[in-house]
Amino acid sequence: MKILVVGGGGREHTIIKKLKENPEVEVIYALPGNGGMKDDAVCVPVGAKDLDGIVAFAKENAIDFAVVAPDDPLVLGCVDRLNEIGIPCFGPRANAAIIEGSKVFSKNLMKKYGIPTATYEVFEDMDAALAYVQDAPIPTVIKADGLALGKGVIIAMTRKEAEDAIVSMMQDKAFGESGSRVVIEEFLTGPEVSVLAFTDGKCVKPMVSSMDHKRALDGDQGLNTGGMGTVAPNPYYTEEIARECMETIFLPTVGAMNAEGRTFKGCLYFGLMLTPKGPKVIEYNCRFGDPETQVVLPLLESDLLTIMMATANGTLAETEVKFADRHACCVVVASGGYPQKYGSGYPMTLPETGKDEYIFVAGAKVQDGVLVTAGGRVLGAVAVEDSLADAVAHAYRIADKVEFENAYKRRDIGQRALAAKQN
Ligand code: AMP
Ligand code: GLY
Repeated sequence: MKILVVGGGGREHTIIKKLKENPEVEVIYALPGNGGMKDDAVCVPVGAKDLDGIVAFAKENAIDFAVVAPDDPLVLGCVDRLNEIGIPCFGPRANAAIIEGSKVFSKNLMKKYGIPTATYEVFEDMDAALAYVQDAPIPTVIKADGLALGKGVIIAMTRKEAEDAIVSMMQDKAFGESGSRVVIEEFLTGPEVSVLAFTDGKCVKPMVSSMDHKRALDGDQGLNTGGMGTVAPNPYYTEEIARECMETIFLPTVGAMNAEGRTFKGCLYFGLMLTPKGPKVIEYNCRFGDPETQVVLPLLESDLLTIMMATANGTLAETEVKFADRHACCVVVASGGYPQKYGSGYPMTLPETGKDEYIFVAGAKVQDGVLVTAGGRVLGAVAVEDSLADAVAHAYRIADKVEFENAYKRRDIGQRALAAKQN
């Protein structure tokens, strides 16, 4: 089979390596991919948002199955376009991808169908939003409506910060048109858990849970990033909580999307907070998370391509989705300065990887025959072990052998999870 994967980061590298385990796969094209995955896929310089380019390539190359991984092409309707020319895909159509594309949509969906989430108000008028935060409980959370590269969320610890956030989103357009509408919501507390789930619109098969580390610096300090590391499973996510989430969140969400005529197929990502009043949804994503995928898929024992095809065919109920009873840790190695200004083009030295070790490359390119950095998050160093402590130690042994100028990583990935296990 000829497979096309849209996207070019660490998540896509992970998906590609897993898809390759199926002997039916002859070739995987990554559009655009990156220089660090050249041994695993044929990288084609077509951007992930260039839907015309993607469709033309798929047609010319008689693609059998496509995986659309990032949020932008999903929200833009890449799956719809590929389906139109008869290519089956993994991923939701645009009318379902809106669950991530618009926070106003997702909040209203949860309210309408009684799915637990933070209480909220929506504002299109800046003065009304400013008036509202004069009396709102502080801290409060301000979110731009549309996609904002994961940066459109501000936790305001004071009224002044709330006012500044509203002005920067609604007047200064810090996140472009994404900020024309804002959601202002209740501040929730509790451990956060990421749960990715396969769904064909009928049944839901959750993957192993994970824990992201979003802040740039040790001790969860510094700016929010796309994610500096992950562990799976998440020790806070017990079997009892998993059962509760299935009943109160996962099945109701899939049912709500069907009732709205927006059947969701693909990977639905539930960003959850385990509050003192039970699990609540912080956000939905319409795709695999990154770097969550880098710890979740290495634990998958079943065949990924078979599962992906089943989500498209509506046969997920009969398809095995089994995870190893082991632990994985991913340490992101970034270019110093990320998520703000950072340098690029540094030659990289990568260690050889053996069994249960992976390097998933996110930001790299080949320049004059040499692999050099080409992004903020450069790669994820991943290890799988029988215990969380061993997985963390092993992932750091791999990450510490990665060399390039100004390489930066957090030193405490997994520590919070280890502490939770001991309590
Ligand atoms: P999001 O982009 O929606 O995932 O938000 C980014 C991060 O902001 C989340 O991972 C949470 O840590 C935090 N966050 C978002 N919404 C809330 C909320 N209502 N209460 C507390 N923290 C939140
Ligand atoms: N790591 C968070 C995300 O992929 O949205």
